[in-house]
Amino acid sequence: MIGRHNPPIETASEHCKTQEAKLILPKNEAVPQAEFQPFGVQLKDGRQVTVREVRADDAERMQTALRAMSAESRYSRFMSAIRELSPNMLEKAVRPDAKRELQLVAVASEDAQEKIVGGARYAAAPGSVDCEFALALIDDWQGQGLARQLLETLMRTARARGFERMEGYILPSNAAMLMLAKRLGFVRVEYSEDPGVQMVRCELARIV
Ligand SMILES: CC(C)(COP(=O)(O)OP(=O)(O)OC[C@H]1O[C@@H](n2cnc3c(N)ncnc32)[C@H](O)[C@@H]1OP(=O)(O)O)[C@@H](O)C(=O)NCCC(=O)NCCS
Repeated sequence: MIGRHNPPIETASEHCKTQEAKLILPKNEAVPQAEFQPFGVQLKDGRQVTVREVRADDAERMQTALRAMSAESRYSRFMSAIRELSPNMLEKAVRPDAKRELQLVAVASEDAQEKIVGGARYAAAPGSVDCEFALALIDDWQGQGLARQLLETLMRTARARGFERMEGYILPSNAAMLMLAKRLGFVRVEYSEDPGVQMVRCELARIV
């Protein structure tokens, strides 16, 4: 079953990749049990977001972000025609189990309010050193280098917290996600449970 440990959220579309998105604050160098340090990212088009851990009061913001995604993006993320998160999924998303899950959100400021524009998470089975990632951005925020920052941050944090491998399940038609995973060191591995899905894996010790 796909995304066994990995429900919620996240979200982009055109590609204007003329320059790298820039980190404004130091990259997160998490240590085991250390609190995740929020940081700012300047996107390729100049927009700015903050990447932070999800909070319990983010439920409505997460639901709003999911509704703002195109049906195609939602399908790519959940591999089903989901329109919104169930109350149960939402609850799990905003209250991750700190020992084996991390849920990050990218937030922009809009009319002095926080708006979630994307998210990324990893989750692991209890006691496992393998974790599974998932991410998505609202379409309007795709193609700006944000997904790369989110996934790199997930990888570094997972490694710092003792995970050895990160895996992901990607639709073969999802060129953006396949390319991003490849750029960050993931390799394709055989996955016989579902021929309609591509599995990728990264040995986290290999990342810089
Ligand atoms: C997949 C997704 C997260 C990528 O986000 P993004 O904002 O386009 O990614 P970035 O801008 O950070 O791009 C990172 C890299 O991805 C690759 N990439 C992005 N879009 C691409 C495309 N359409 N074709 C090929 N490669 C692409 C490039 O290698 C790019 O690197 P570059 O900037 O050096 O060219 C985003 O499209 C999304 O949210 N999709 C819907 C949900 C989803 O598919 N989630 C994945 C399931 S786990």
